[in-house]
Amino acid sequence: MGNKVISPGEAGVAQAGQAQDGQPGFSRGMVGISNARGAGTNQAPPDIKVSIRELRFYYGKLEALKGITMDIRKNELLTIMGPSGSGKTTLLRSLNRLGDLIAGTSVSGQVLVDGKDIYGPGVDVAELRRRIGMVFALPVVLPMSIYDNVAYGPRKRGIKRRALLDEIVEQALRAAILWDEVKDRLRDHAGRLSGGQQQRLSIARVLAVQPEIIMLDEPTSGLDPISTLRIEELLHELVERYTVILVTHNPLQAARVGGDVAFFLLGELVERAPAGVIFTSPRDKRTEDYITGKFG
Ligand SMILES: Nc1ncnc2c1ncn2[C@@H]1O[C@H](COP(=O)(O)OP(=O)(O)O)[C@@H](O)[C@H]1O
Ligand SMILES: [Mg+2]
Repeated sequence: MGNKVISPGEAGVAQAGQAQDGQPGFSRGMVGISNARGAGTNQAPPDIKVSIRELRFYYGKLEALKGITMDIRKNELLTIMGPSGSGKTTLLRSLNRLGDLIAGTSVSGQVLVDGKDIYGPGVDVAELRRRIGMVFALPVVLPMSIYDNVAYGPRKRGIKRRALLDEIVEQALRAAILWDEVKDRLRDHAGRLSGGQQQRLSIARVLAVQPEIIMLDEPTSGLDPISTLRIEELLHELVERYTVILVTHNPLQAARVGGDVAFFLLGELVERAPAGVIFTSPRDKRTEDYITGKFG
C-alpha cells in the first residue's frame, strides 16, 4: 500500500472492497460493499449511521490507520479502546475530516455517513463537523459566560432571537445534565465552573448545534472519579438521542460504559464485541493481554 496523497474526490473510489478476515466479533452489522464505490452511494441499511471501509490514514509516511472496516449503528454507544498511539484520535478525526487540517496527511478508503461518502465531492465540511461533534480530553470553554458559551455555536449559525437562544441553551444544558447546577448563574464566567462541570459544558456546547453523532476523545482523562462517573452516566442519556463514540485507553471505563467495544492496536482494529463478551472471552491474545494489564 503506497502513501500517495489522495484527493478527497479520489478517496471515494480507493480500496473500497476487501472483507476483513481475522476480525472476530466483527461480522455483526456488516453490509455489502461490492458496489460501494464512488461518492454518494447509498449502500448502508437504515440502522447503520457510519460505515467505515478499508480506511487508511497517513501522517506523511506513517500509516496510522491500517485499513479499518467497521459499522456504527444509529443510537449505538461504541467505545474505541486502545493504548496510546493505537490510532483512536486519528479515527475520530477522520470521521469529521478534522485530519484535513493537519499538513502532510492523506487518506484512502471510505467513510459513509448515512450512506454518503464524506470524502466525496460536494461535501460541506463545516456542516459535517456540526453533524459530527467532538468533545476533547480537556474542556473547550471560551472566556465568557456559561450562557454565551452554549449560545456561541447557535449564534454563529445565525440564530439571534433571544427566546429561541434561551430555549436552545436550556435544552443543551439539560441534555448535558448541567442545568440544575448552573440555572441560577448562567451569567457567571464559565471559568468558575469545576473541571467536571466544564467538561459537561463542553458537551452542552456540542449539543447546542444539534449534532447527530457525538465523539468524545478520552473525555474524563482530567477528571476525578465522581465527575468521571457523571460523564459516563451522561453517555447513556445521550445515546437515546444521538450516536455516541467514546474513546478511552482505560479498559475499566470501557467495561463500565458497556455497549460494543472496538479494540485498537497500532492502527488496526483487533476485535470488536459487546463489552460483556470482550471482557470475559476476548478472542484475540492481544486483547486479552491489554485488558489484563500486560501492556499498554
Ligand atoms: N499530528 C500528527 N503528526 C504525525 N503523527 C501523528 C500525529 N498525530 C498522531 N500521530 C501518530 O499517529 C499514530 C496514532 O496516533 P493517535 O491517533 O493520536 O493515537 P491515540 O489517540 O490512540 O493515542 C501514532 O503513532 C502517533 O504518533
Ligand atoms: Mg488520542
